[in-house]
Amino acid sequence: MNDTTGLSSPTVPPAACPAYEGAVRLSGTEFQQSPAELYRGLRRRHGAVAPVLLDGDVPAWLVLGYAEVSYVTAHDDLFARDSRRWNQWDTVPADWPLLPFVGHQPSVLFTEGAAHQMRAGVITEALEVIDQFELAQRCRGIAGPLIDAFAGSGRAELMSAYVHALPMRAAVQMCGMPAGGADTEDLVRDLRISLDAGPGDDPVAAYGRVQERIRRLVDEKRTAPGPDVTSRMLRHPAGLTEEEIVQDLVSVIAAAQQPTANWIGNTLRLLLTDDRFALNVSGGRLSVGQALGEVLWLDTPTQNFIGRFAARDTTLGGRRIRAGDMVVLGLAAANTDPQIWPEGHAGEENSAHLSFGNGEHRCPYPAPLLADVIARTAVETLLERLPDVVLAVEPEELSWRPSVWMRGLTALPVRFSPVVQ
Ligand code: HEM
Repeated sequence: MNDTTGLSSPTVPPAACPAYEGAVRLSGTEFQQSPAELYRGLRRRHGAVAPVLLDGDVPAWLVLGYAEVSYVTAHDDLFARDSRRWNQWDTVPADWPLLPFVGHQPSVLFTEGAAHQMRAGVITEALEVIDQFELAQRCRGIAGPLIDAFAGSGRAELMSAYVHALPMRAAVQMCGMPAGGADTEDLVRDLRISLDAGPGDDPVAAYGRVQERIRRLVDEKRTAPGPDVTSRMLRHPAGLTEEEIVQDLVSVIAAAQQPTANWIGNTLRLLLTDDRFALNVSGGRLSVGQALGEVLWLDTPTQNFIGRFAARDTTLGGRRIRAGDMVVLGLAAANTDPQIWPEGHAGEENSAHLSFGNGEHRCPYPAPLLADVIARTAVETLLERLPDVVLAVEPEELSWRPSVWMRGLTALPVRFSPVVQ
């Protein structure tokens, strides 16, 4: 097949499926480094819904249009969440890298209908009670020692030393684990491995330990409840089973950590690389709040969300979708859809972006506010403590993680005047 777009290496589409004609791989260097260009090219070539190939050349539909993503997420009876509906399971190898995100788990994420409303309701009510001022204070308390650990050296790699570490600790604390306990540190390490495994890590074993530790946390809170998310979920009149609470707590922590971390990282990158924010950030004209908002429009952490599965044959954006087809929510592409930005000013200050999803399975209402507190406190505290922080490499040298769903940097090396403590 002849690819005229030069977007990414084209492949032969699955032979039996002419619908996937011209499918483009959502992987490879070009996708990682400049996905916005890939999305633009896909939109020109295919319109609002494009055939794509995920890892291992597994076919899916990528929804690029703002109206179409809104439609899919608003019709959860037609585009449903339970991945057991997928019609490609027999083509997926046991070690498929996207399995952790697509494989069914008995958690809120994959639940549908009335059962989902109940479980999302329990999470919403448990998160709603969190006091935002207290959360900000706790995040400053987490940020302090993390910054202390590298402040004296004048250099740091922020993604590992700060950006990922802070929201993970904040999420674990929200659920009622003590801040500095040794087993909290074990949980933080195992969560990191299970969400973002590096070479030599065993994510499956780490995930098992995470579940085990959360199961013990649930037991502990049953006998000694406290002012935390776990205790509130246990007390909730819906009466979820212990296993449901364990599954949903793991989902809450995981759903909080990766996107909030990459929101912080992408915002720091914007502040440190864009002249509008000035190199010396503390003297910049635009605020941290504006940078956080702009990132949600133009460099959103959950760039693609996998996904939804067609409950029956239907059409979308002029495409015929078969029952069981996978539909990937192209949140980043939808946010910059020219249909909603006819003047080309994508990213103006309002919050009508789709970065937190939409509809029944959207990020549950208090979570975006809590994430905002965590991200804002993380960025502001770092800039207060290290006011002359600058990038330690050229902006073009920064590289992105090879992930189809998360948009996040592999490393963010910085330098600053060492702080004598
Ligand atoms: C305190 C931090 C956060 C918590 C506790 C949290 C929690 C959750 C939970 C429990 C879900 C599953 C909802 C369901 O399936 O019913 C979810 C979904 C989601 N969250 Fe969050 N989240 C947080 C931060 C974020 C951030 C920072 C972003 C991105 C900027 C984000 C984007 C999303 C998206 C895109 C979905 C899927 C929406 C969909 O399927 O339509 N979340 N979140």
